Formats: sequence, structure tokens, C-alpha cells
Amino acid sequence: MNKKKISILEVGPRDGFQNLKQFLPTEKKLEIIDGLISTGVTKMEITSFVSPKAIPQMADAAEISRICTEKYPQLELYALTPNRRGVENAYAAGVRHMSYVISVSEKHNMRNINRSHDQSFADLEQIIRDFPNVDITVGMATALGCPFEGEQSVAKVVAFAERLWDAGVRKMYPADTIGVADPGLVRRIVTALREALPEAELQIHIHDTRGMGLVNTLAAIECGISTVQSTLGGLGGCPFAPGASGNTATEDLVYMLEKMGYDTGIDFDKLLALSKYQKSFVDGIYSGHQICINESKQPCC
Ligand code: COA
Ligand code: ZN
Repeated sequence: MNKKKISILEVGPRDGFQNLKQFLPTEKKLEIIDGLISTGVTKMEITSFVSPKAIPQMADAAEISRICTEKYPQLELYALTPNRRGVENAYAAGVRHMSYVISVSEKHNMRNINRSHDQSFADLEQIIRDFPNVDITVGMATALGCPFEGEQSVAKVVAFAERLWDAGVRKMYPADTIGVADPGLVRRIVTALREALPEAELQIHIHDTRGMGLVNTLAAIECGISTVQSTLGGLGGCPFAPGASGNTATEDLVYMLEKMGYDTGIDFDKLLALSKYQKSFVDGIYSGHQICINESKQPCC
């Protein structure tokens, strides 16, 4: 019997590393990216093109991107690009897969990227027109809960996704930005999105507060999602959001899915060894994996 494939989109080098307190040398970042690829990872968010004042950890985005896109032209290597300047810089560094972010909660969008919904959508439409050969995925931040506005209604999330679809976006994902989702909510949102936009490629981005990462991811998979985001070692969170929790750990996800009979294409033993290696140098400089207290005043994703 053919196993059902689940694609893992590893976001550790972006969502994980952006949360490290001290600058992780570029060579170390590249070493982990290479290591992940050697385990079988084929989709990865490798960095973000944001203001180095906001996220100093991502100051080497251009170098990372240039090296990785040249070395692995066959892989889906993404950069997070929250504004036009980011898209231009990423494009110049060879990136052709980009994650744009707009928060479903407008309040959060203002805090995170300093844009109203209308401004963010206008920028996005212009970017889609001006960069026709860039593959754009949009993260719907706070779709599963906002630190300022609380739970977002299913109808609001669906309308937001439909607005993205009308703007030309074909790949999108609801994000549990601050780790407050539960499997019931994930099911309601994912089911409604799949009904409203059956042609869209939906992914899911989950944070792991109170051990909910695996169950929330599994709920999304059981509702038909086949690309799920996670981070090596469960790193992740937000440098400016005290208490923002880490993401679902890729090794835990691969272990669970392979045991359940899914095919992730990733070698669990190699992944575990890599996670242990990463732990040996990030442990002391990691500030994630705490209980979310929803008091973020600043960017998070
Ligand atoms: N890359 C590098 N620098 C950028 C940039 C980008 N994509 N966009 C803006 N900047 C710089 C500007 O040059 C300016 O620098 P200066 O202060 O030295 O003049 C500064 O950032 C502010 O520029 P402005 O156009 O006014 O942007 P902004 O204040 O509206 O901020 C963001 C826009 C999105 C770039 C900024 O808020 C940011 O980087 N936020 C981080 C978001 C994030 O990564 N969240 C976590 C993941 S979702
Ligand atoms: Zn995140």
C-alpha cells in the first residue's frame, strides 16, 4: 500500500533562529540548513528579510540566501519577506520562494509590520504584479488567536483567505502565532478554509504551547492539510514577545507521522542527531518554550 505523503516545511532557520538571544554565526546557521537537507528536508524557510534593527539575528539573510539558493537550486527554499523592500532584497539574493505575512487581526498587523490591512494587501497585489516568477505563500498570522483581539471568528478568517485568493495568492496558511489554538479550533478553521477555497494549497503553522503542537498539527492533517510547518528542536517564538512558545519540533512530528504510517521522506535518526547537535550550541542562547502570556507589544509570527 502506498503511504500518504506529508510534506514538512522546516521553518527553524527563520522562526527558530530569530528567537536566539545572541547572534548565531552564519556558518552555524548554514551547517544546520545543510544538516536538515541531508535528513531529507526539501522545503525550508531559511531566513527573513526584515529590518536588522527589528531582528538582528537575520542580518545575514542575503548571504544565507545566496549560498543556499546556489547550492540547492532544486529545493523549495523560502525567505520570509513582510514588505516590498524585503521582497526586492530577497529577489536580488536569488530567492524565488517567499512567505509574505499579514495578520488577520489588524491590530497585530500594525504592531508586527506597521501596516493596515489595506496597505498590506495593496503592497501584496503590487508585489504579485511586479514579481511574476516569485512563488508567494502568505501566512495568515493570528488566524488562530491574537494577543490583542483574542479569537478570530471562522467567518473572518475565511473572508481574509478569500481576499488573498482574489489578490492572486494560491498558497496560504493559518498561523497559531502565539500558541493558543486547540484541535477543535484548528478543525473548524481548516475545514471552513478547505470548503471555501478547495483549490488553494493550505499549510499550517503551529506553536507548541502546553504541548498542543502535535495534536493541533495532526488535527490539520486529518482535515486534509498535507504541508505542515515545524522547527528542528522546537525552537521558535518571538524575540519581542515574552513567553511566545516554540514551534512543533520537527523530530517529534516526523516520529509521530512515520509511526502512523505517513511518509515524510525524512530520516528520523539523522534528524534526532542533528537536533542534539543544535541543542549543544543553542541551549544557552534560546529564549523560547515558555508558557504564552499574550502580552506581546512587538513583532511575532
Ligand atoms: N529589510 C531591511 N530593512 C528594512 C526593511 C527590510 N525588509 N524594511 C524596512 N527596513 C528598514 C528601513 O530602511 C528603515 O531603516 P532606518 O530606520 O535605518 O531608516 C526601518 O527599517 C524602518 O523602515 P519603514 O519603511 O518605516 O518600515 P517600518 O517601520 O514600517 O517596518 C518592517 C517594517 C516590517 C520591515 C519592520 O517592522 C520589521 O522588520 N519587523 C519585523 C517583522 C518580523 O520579522 N516579525 C516576525 C516574523 S512575522
Ligand atoms: Zn511562528
